[in-house]
Amino acid sequence: MTAATESSTGPGEQAVDMRTSLASFQLPNPVLTASGCAAAGRELGQFFDVAELGGVVTKSIMLKPRSGRPTPRMAETPSGMLNSIGLQGPGIDSFIANDLAWLKQAGARSVVSIAGHNTEEFVNLAKRLYNHPIDLLEVNISCPNVESRGQVFACDPTASARVISAVRRAANPNVPIFAKLSPDVTDIGLIARSVADAGADGISLINTLLGLVIDLDTMRPALGGVTGGLSGPAIRPVAIRCVWQVHQAVPHLPLLGMGGIKTGADALQFILAGASAVSVGTAIFNDPHAPVRILAELQAELAARGFASVTEAVGFAHRAVAEQEEFFASRKLGVGA
Ligand code: FUM
Repeated sequence: MTAATESSTGPGEQAVDMRTSLASFQLPNPVLTASGCAAAGRELGQFFDVAELGGVVTKSIMLKPRSGRPTPRMAETPSGMLNSIGLQGPGIDSFIANDLAWLKQAGARSVVSIAGHNTEEFVNLAKRLYNHPIDLLEVNISCPNVESRGQVFACDPTASARVISAVRRAANPNVPIFAKLSPDVTDIGLIARSVADAGADGISLINTLLGLVIDLDTMRPALGGVTGGLSGPAIRPVAIRCVWQVHQAVPHLPLLGMGGIKTGADALQFILAGASAVSVGTAIFNDPHAPVRILAELQAELAARGFASVTEAVGFAHRAVAEQEEFFASRKLGVGA
């Protein structure tokens, strides 16, 4: 076990096995970065060893270099923030040569997020990555900062399925693909079933919620792109509700949960709702150490509740009360611990 998987337990508390999996991707622990909040991980490398995390999820990469949306691109909101970056990035060739190479030499597990304007672009990205050392492909079909709502594939079950089945066919079959979903839909369970049927190996959720802030000095939208994606603790209950509903809709698929996680206790809520791992995003902007701190806090939260492993806690909130009580009674008798 690495340092990150050892338990920081107090006297009388049991050690917790923090290993988890996202389909065939085996992780030493369930805490990753969230796409878009740590570029491709290099910036975080000055604060801690990124190989200590379950994985680094990169900023969504597109085929060509992209300068993104007009400035201003960020606005403060109560208990959160609004961003309108517009998928700025260096393009896939530079990403592979520089960012992916850096992640590899840093010993990090890499989850590469890809975004395209259409199915063909997603397919080309999957093909470009086919022979490169990546642990998981996150297919971002839910970025809200695109020119038209018609490009938010995750708002429509047919469009979502089309992208996911094409990517599944084009990508390396040894690399799991996760569809990243939007909360801005009426029935997220419907979208989840549709990407599951199309071949997704798991689901990442949630992307940001579409929002708007008016600047009272100019009396115009605060963001150059007018609308933006809302993230941070303000969206956490929405995210946990989505994880809960998607776990019910596709209980056989692993979930990577995210949305406003600031503490280990927040992360535990996602796991109890059905996530096998979590991504930490907006919290990194004011505390770059947040992912490693949250990992230690999560271990302590699990230990304090008598869990011997993180996998025991996945989806635990869905169990009947009697079954939960039986689990803890067996623990007191030393059964299964
Ligand atoms: O604007 C952006 O680059 C955001 C992407 C996303 O939320 O998926």
